[in-house]
Amino acid sequence: SDQSAFDTNVWTLTRFVIETGRQAKGATGELTQLINAMLTAIKAISSAVRKAGLAHLQGLAGSVNVTGDDVKKLDVLSNDLVINMLQASYSTCCMVSEENEGLIITPKDKRGKYVVCFDPLDGSSNIDCLASIGTIFAIYKRTSDGEPTEKDALQQGNNIVCAGYALYGSATLVALSTGAGLNFFMLDPGIGEFILTERNVKIKQKGKIYSMNEGYAKYFHRSINEYLKHKKYPEDGSAPYGSRYVGSMVSDVHRTIAYGGIFMYPANEKSPKGKLRLLYECNPVAFLIEQAGGLATTGTQRILDVQPEALHQRVPFVVGSPDDVNEYLSFVKKFT
Ligand code: AHM
Ligand code: MG
Repeated sequence: SDQSAFDTNVWTLTRFVIETGRQAKGATGELTQLINAMLTAIKAISSAVRKAGLAHLQGLAGSVNVTGDDVKKLDVLSNDLVINMLQASYSTCCMVSEENEGLIITPKDKRGKYVVCFDPLDGSSNIDCLASIGTIFAIYKRTSDGEPTEKDALQQGNNIVCAGYALYGSATLVALSTGAGLNFFMLDPGIGEFILTERNVKIKQKGKIYSMNEGYAKYFHRSINEYLKHKKYPEDGSAPYGSRYVGSMVSDVHRTIAYGGIFMYPANEKSPKGKLRLLYECNPVAFLIEQAGGLATTGTQRILDVQPEALHQRVPFVVGSPDDVNEYLSFVKKFT
């Protein structure tokens, strides 16, 4: 019949999370609640990013903002959504957001045992030109009792319980891992659910694309520029690499996982620690890339081994296919 292609036993992300939760020893369902709250926020952000309900946002329907009030900026709206949804899930004790300078402490009556570090809308320079942007998050268990403090959030990436990103691209996709491989889910707007589209994703051993902001070449360390030269003028007769750079980390990272290759935001003279933030940009992505069989390094240390010292600290960031990252590391060795 014409309904024959309709999957009546589809794996949604909600189902996947419930199932994973049931299999975990001693699980209480709190993590499931937390992830579901995050997914609700992501769906709402996706809708806002796509300007669904534009009339409402702009006040054309005569409801809001006709008085000239500023429309809430997309990044502020996204931040409010994540904080409110997560606090309402009774599963967090504190959070770190790119948008908030200090630790966000959950009201006492809503506290649970998890710590969440997130960037509600990464790639903000791409908002106005409608290029892809994303949301990134990492979840940890708290390590102390009593009032939550920064220390609860300053955990090594090694302690991540679950991490993910949402990519608001030509479709909305969620990449998620609870430590048992990486899975991709695509939003089906018809039912408002994420559908499992790729299970146990693995990155290629070696890719054909490098991705970085080469405009900073003047300020790069020699090891980077020598590596780039090698990608463009290979001495061994192999084909040069292609170059791709959106300038939205989630896009650049997602392409790197999907097609293979290397993405980097290294240190440079003007930004001695690079630009990207350890807690809510680098750690979650490093965790996901490793789950896919790739590598993530600062150039001198595995990202997940870095002991965080401040909520918003930056680290040089190099991730991708194992052969490509190792090749880059050989240039670091050679030129330092
Ligand atoms: P943001 O958090 O202000 O959006 O900055 C992070 C973004 C990343 O998505 C991207 O990888 C990087 O900034 C691009 O920076 P640059 O413009 O220096 O290449
Ligand atoms: Mg960011």
